[in-house]
Amino acid sequence: MGRFPEALMTDFALAIVVLAAGAGTRMCSDIPKPLHRVGGLSLLGHVLALAQAASPERLAVVAGQGFEAVASATRALAPGAAVVEQAERLGTGHAVRCAAPALDGFVGEVLVLYADTPLLRSDTVARLRAAVAGGGEEGAAIAVLGFEPADPGGYGRLILDGEGGLARIVEAKDATAGERAVRLCNSGVMAFRWPQARAWLDGLSAANAKGEYYLTDLAAAARMAGEPASVVLCPEEETLGVNDRLDLAAAEAAFQRRARAVAMRGGVTLVAPETVFLSHDTILGRDVTIGPNVVFGPGVTVEDGAEIGAFSWLEGCVVRAGAAVGPYARLRPGAEIGQGARVGNFVEVKNATLDRGAKVNHLSYLGDATVGRGANIGAGTITCNYDGYGKYRTAIGAEAFIGSNTALVAPVAVGEGANVAAGSTITADVAPGALALARARQVVKPGYAARLRALFAKRKAGTGR
Ligand code: UD1
Ligand code: MG
Repeated sequence: MGRFPEALMTDFALAIVVLAAGAGTRMCSDIPKPLHRVGGLSLLGHVLALAQAASPERLAVVAGQGFEAVASATRALAPGAAVVEQAERLGTGHAVRCAAPALDGFVGEVLVLYADTPLLRSDTVARLRAAVAGGGEEGAAIAVLGFEPADPGGYGRLILDGEGGLARIVEAKDATAGERAVRLCNSGVMAFRWPQARAWLDGLSAANAKGEYYLTDLAAAARMAGEPASVVLCPEEETLGVNDRLDLAAAEAAFQRRARAVAMRGGVTLVAPETVFLSHDTILGRDVTIGPNVVFGPGVTVEDGAEIGAFSWLEGCVVRAGAAVGPYARLRPGAEIGQGARVGNFVEVKNATLDRGAKVNHLSYLGDATVGRGANIGAGTITCNYDGYGKYRTAIGAEAFIGSNTALVAPVAVGEGANVAAGSTITADVAPGALALARARQVVKPGYAARLRALFAKRKAGTGR
């Protein structure tokens, strides 16, 4: 999340109202629209992060559809925010009116954001704020974020006056053919002075095509009162609103493009950037190399110089400096891969720590385990951490050697420098430095192979048993 440029900071107090009450009908979903995710974070989460980056004095979320779920998500993401209910969905103006009690006694600037618009940038918001407050005497009473889309379609149109100020906003459904030809559109994001705008908000009427209280009518109301209204422009991508699953995919794609660019600018090599999927909170160090087709779920940190091979999936884990993971590795929550450690192909690690230099190179599962420094885990080693009821831990000491195809039945510990023979099923602790063999002793019968073949051939021919 970008910081607000100092030059655009104002000493106007800020309150933010996030509109999140919409029905989201076109998502065809049982999940409220604001809780659908982009980059592993809910749409609401993106907007609340943007809001919090502006350090508002007050923050209110207007919820309606799926109230309880939206309210509890808000409490988790922004504990200081007020959640107000809009029981009846009577329009964007009505929604802001519902938030008025949360603005009681507030003097400053109110910024309205939509919970379904996750790509807005901090510096754009700062420019909008500055249009209201930063200009001092010359600042507008209301400023609207506008854009010029390739297809203006159903957006509200920004009608300018002769001097480039904003005269009014007309919704597409209420617009004349001439007004619809205007390409300058309303993003929906706006800022206005408070409590000055309160009277205008109270005065909104629903006598329009949709029978709703339009927040957009505030612009004309301000002008009627002789107050200046202005437009601040931003790129179309930032205003992308999610209304259906296609929009959600478009927002995801835009988010990924941005996140990949940020990573590469920060010194990360993405061999095939368009195939790497990042989360909102992915942290990648300098000189990290990511192969093709790697997916980062939430909560991943990869430190400097580490390498993540193709087709790996990481989530809730830390990869320390210089470690190598994959190709085809799966790191699940609680995995911590130590400095210079190696996790190879078809290895799954969950809630387990590999200390520096430890190696688990092939076809293994390490769950609820600690692996000491420099230990070597042979191919096909499995920690049997679950008995159908509880989860148990496996501890492997530094420099221990676990032979291939070993089953470690937890809870169990293998001491420092111990050696476990390949094919063992380890059910009891192994002392440091000890050798453990836990497999049937091999029996070899010389010449028996030929006798066996003769026996089987006879059987097949039906001439013997
Ligand atoms: C709105 C703008 C339009 C602008 C467009 C940009 C109005 C009247 N129109 O139209 O000028 O071009 O956004 O996308 O504001 N919401 C509530 N309660 C309500 C109604 C809406 O919380 O009663 C929320 C929705 O959840 C959504 C946002 O407000 O987050 C916008 O509502 P929506 O119905 O999508 O407005 P548009 O018709 O798209
Ligand atoms: Mg909309």
